[in-house]
Formats: sequence, structure tokens, C-alpha cells
Amino acid sequence: MTDTDHTAFEPADDDADALLAVRAIKKHFPIKQGLFIQRQVAAVKAVDGVSFSLRAGETLGLVGESGCGKSTVGRVVTKLVEPTAGTIRFDGRDVTKLSRGNMRPLRRDIQIIFQDPYSSLNPRHTIGTIVGAPFRIQGTKTSKGIKTEVQSLMERVGLNPEHYNRYPHEFSGGQRQRIGIARAVALRPKLIVCDEPVSALDVSIQAQVVNLLEDLQAEFGLAYIFVAHDLSVVRHISNRVAVMYLGKIMELTDRDTLYSRPVHPYTHSLMSAVPVPDPLKENRRERILLTGDLPSPINPPSGCVFHTRCPKFRMQLSDSEKERCVAEVPLLELKRPGQQAACHYPEERADVVLAEDVVAPAT
Ligand SMILES: Nc1ncnc2c1ncn2[C@@H]1O[C@H](COP(=O)(O)OP(=O)(O)O)[C@@H](O)[C@H]1O
Ligand code: SF4
Ligand SMILES: [Mg+2]
Repeated sequence: MTDTDHTAFEPADDDADALLAVRAIKKHFPIKQGLFIQRQVAAVKAVDGVSFSLRAGETLGLVGESGCGKSTVGRVVTKLVEPTAGTIRFDGRDVTKLSRGNMRPLRRDIQIIFQDPYSSLNPRHTIGTIVGAPFRIQGTKTSKGIKTEVQSLMERVGLNPEHYNRYPHEFSGGQRQRIGIARAVALRPKLIVCDEPVSALDVSIQAQVVNLLEDLQAEFGLAYIFVAHDLSVVRHISNRVAVMYLGKIMELTDRDTLYSRPVHPYTHSLMSAVPVPDPLKENRRERILLTGDLPSPINPPSGCVFHTRCPKFRMQLSDSEKERCVAEVPLLELKRPGQQAACHYPEERADVVLAEDVVAPAT
């Protein structure tokens, strides 16, 4: 089986009514060398054959270690970077190769929120200017005028509208993320890619920001792709969760299934790595430590990309089973109704799961 077979994955779920359908997308960043003539000598396979769909109003959690390609998926979906291969369908249209001129409606419908709100907010602009920018750029007419519109948005995301003329540095980290959220929802988009929006915030603030995102979702019918490196963060907000490793999706299923009976060995190790505050509960959970470093996405392992670190491969499989893991790329396919995994030897494990939310909703 060749590498290309992996991208020939056809979704089992009917995505005819999906808001977003991503099929076999790849993003390979070229590495060039040469003093005068730059030639491509290799490529970083940041995303290497990712397929998923998302319905209107739904949240897909996207989880995996740093460097596995989560942000790149988010940037491809928001059209900040062009995919090397694959297709993106949004709202019934193929938007993979939209020209700049036809991009404007898409720019309004798909927004992104970044991990570090400070670096994505211009320090020389006031909050009023920042949150009002989408209206000006899109030339949107607002019924009440931009200032009134911006102030009601500020109020909606929990900021004091009187702080309209303040600068980003005058706000705390959590408040700055609220500014980023206000800017993202200004034009009532259909989809927001939330790229680790709470990873830089204190745990207590994380819950407040997640709650705000949930409230806005209910109010405006927003769909989210919610990126995090930790399974505990996306549990509360996600309807479905995709677990990524080295540019590929390893497991994709609904939230309750993932957190009660995950089948992919990589999901098992991520799940077991989530710290639980209660030491008694901690003792009852099996810890699986991953050995070795994350392989380079320039030269990923053959067959199953996880085989160099897979605990099941190392400790449980026979030699002939191992040979299959090394030689054959496992397809992301249904292992049970609604539960997709890319593993030749999936196995349900309840001993690693998280009994409850770590990032609980704020009261
Ligand atoms: N513009 C780029 N040029 C070259 N390599 C990149 C670029 N952006 C990301 N990468 C590489 O692609 C891989 C995936 O990165 P990223 O999508 O940021 O992962 P994550 O968000 O999961 O941490 C990493 O190895 C990263 O170094
Ligand atoms: S295919 Fe093999 S190496 Fe890959 S996750 Fe499954 S058991 Fe581990
Ligand atoms: Mg990232």
C-alpha cells in the first residue's frame, strides 16, 4: 500500500449537508537550498492527508502534541495558506482554489482566533479600531454606526464599552482574548477556527473564555474548530474530537465515545497524560509514557507514522504484526459506528480515560 492510498479515504458519514468538508488535504512546506538558484531539497509534511467534516453549529476539537500540524490545518481551512493537495468545500462550494476577488464573502464567513491575543492585536490601535476593523474592511453598513456596534459587541463579550479608546496593553490576557473574540464574531461568521485560544491563560480564566465561546455559539449558531494540545481542554466544548499525530488524524469520534472508550494507542497515551487534580483518582488510572522524540515531519516513519513510539507496537505485538505496522499505512476508517481510527490493531481501553472534566464550566 502506498502513501497516496491513505489520502483516498472516503468519509463514512454523509457530509452532503456539512458546512465544511475537508478532503485529503496536505500542506508540505518546501525546504530550499542553494546560493543563487534555490532548489527544493525536501519538504516539511506539516499536514499529510487530513479529512473531516463539520456541520453548522458544531464544534470539532483538534488535539495533538505541539508540531503535529493543528495550526496548519486551521490556516488551510481559513485560507491563510494554500493546501498542497486536497479539497475544501464550504457551504456547498468548492473553495480550494478561490481567486482573491472571490474570497471576500469567505473572509467574512470564516474567522480565526489565535493563542496569543497580544501578538494578533496591533498595539498601536485602540480596541475600538481593532474590533471595528472587520466592518471597515468589508465595507459593511451597520445600522447604528460602527462605534455603537463595536460597543455592543464589547458588552456582549464581557468588556466595558467605555474602554473603547484603550490600547491592548491596558488589558489582561483574558480580556485581550475577549477582544480577539469580539473581532472574530463582528461580522457574524459561520465558522471560527479557535487556535489554542485558552492555552496561554490561567485555568480559572480558561473556563470563562470557553463559556463565552459556548454562549456565542448558541446565540449565533457558530461552528468551531477548537485546537488544543491537551485533551482536557476540548472535552467540555466539543461535539466530536479529532486526535492528530505527525500531520495525520489518528482517531476521530464523538466526544463521549472518545472519553469513555478510545481505541487508538496514541489517544490512550494522550489521555493518560492528562493530569488529574485528585490524587486518589490519579492512582486508578494507567499512565502510558511515550518514549523517544517526536519524529521529524520532514522524514516521517514508514507505515504507521506512530510506530516508532507506539507502546502497543513495542510491548504487545508479534513480529509479523509489527511488520505490518512498519510497512502499511493504516487508513482512517470506521472501527465501530461513528468511531474512526487509523490503526491496524485498535483496542478499547477504559483504564486510561478521564472520569470527569478538568476544565469545568465556570459558575
Ligand atoms: N511556514 C512554515 N514553514 C515551514 N515549516 C512550517 C511552517 N509552519 C509550520 N511548519 C512546521 O509544520 C509542522 C506543523 O506545525 P503546526 O501546524 O504549527 O503544528 P501545531 O499547531 O500542531 O503545533 C511543524 O513541524 C512546524 O515546524
Ligand atoms: S498501526 Fe501499529 S504502530 Fe500504529 S498505532 Fe496501531 S498498533 Fe501502533
Ligand atoms: Mg499550533
